[in-house]
Amino acid sequence: MTADNHFCDLTGHASSQLQTSVFYEIKDISRGETVTFLFAEDPAIILHSLNLQLRNNLRWEVSEEPGQRWRAVIHRAEDVPPVDVLDMLKRDHKRLDAMFSQVIHLTDNGQLEVAHALMRAFSDGLRKHLLVEHDMLARAIRTPPDAQGLDPSAAMVQEHNEILNQSVMIEASFEEQDASNTSVGPLLAILAGYLSKHEQREEATLFPVWTGALNKAPEQARTALFNKVMETLRD
Ligand SMILES: [Fe+2]
Ligand SMILES: [Fe+2]
Repeated sequence: MTADNHFCDLTGHASSQLQTSVFYEIKDISRGETVTFLFAEDPAIILHSLNLQLRNNLRWEVSEEPGQRWRAVIHRAEDVPPVDVLDMLKRDHKRLDAMFSQVIHLTDNGQLEVAHALMRAFSDGLRKHLLVEHDMLARAIRTPPDAQGLDPSAAMVQEHNEILNQSVMIEASFEEQDASNTSVGPLLAILAGYLSKHEQREEATLFPVWTGALNKAPEQARTALFNKVMETLRD
């Protein structure tokens, strides 16, 4: 085992203490470092709620071992800082996708309370992401119409409205008294498909135009935008 990989056996810990124990082990985890934990129960809920507390900064791989043991290797989500605004947005797509898959996973498992909390965090993250794309990029950079005469920025705004509407419906369905994986699950599946198509389209049509425009902008303006986007996505 290298100095960058710590090991922590929590199999003797009481269930109620697990989240706190993991928190203290990983709260100062630095770039390139991993911590391996051994649990006597499935740590899925603990890790998801801890990740909420730590602003979705963690990633992990869990494997089940013989004798009711779960091994979880935890590391930071980002080990390399972003190079520019578009890189930040692409990473934010991945981060939002990962959060949303967790919402689906938890809902499938019937853990609706944690799923709902994570859905709220996802919606917050989504709103910040859309703010950057609308107010900081689309408003400043005009995009030429495509071969069919459609403006990719206008298409993006329409898709964003659809995504927001769907996420509001999902939150409402989590709030219903008889919410279950059969009532929320289908709505999640629809948004999952829509979101990933939207992100792919955006990265293929708009991001190259934005990159071209930003490359022509004065360096000072580019740096100012970089810092503003970083701050907005981080909050
Ligand atoms: Fe978007
Ligand atoms: Fe986006």
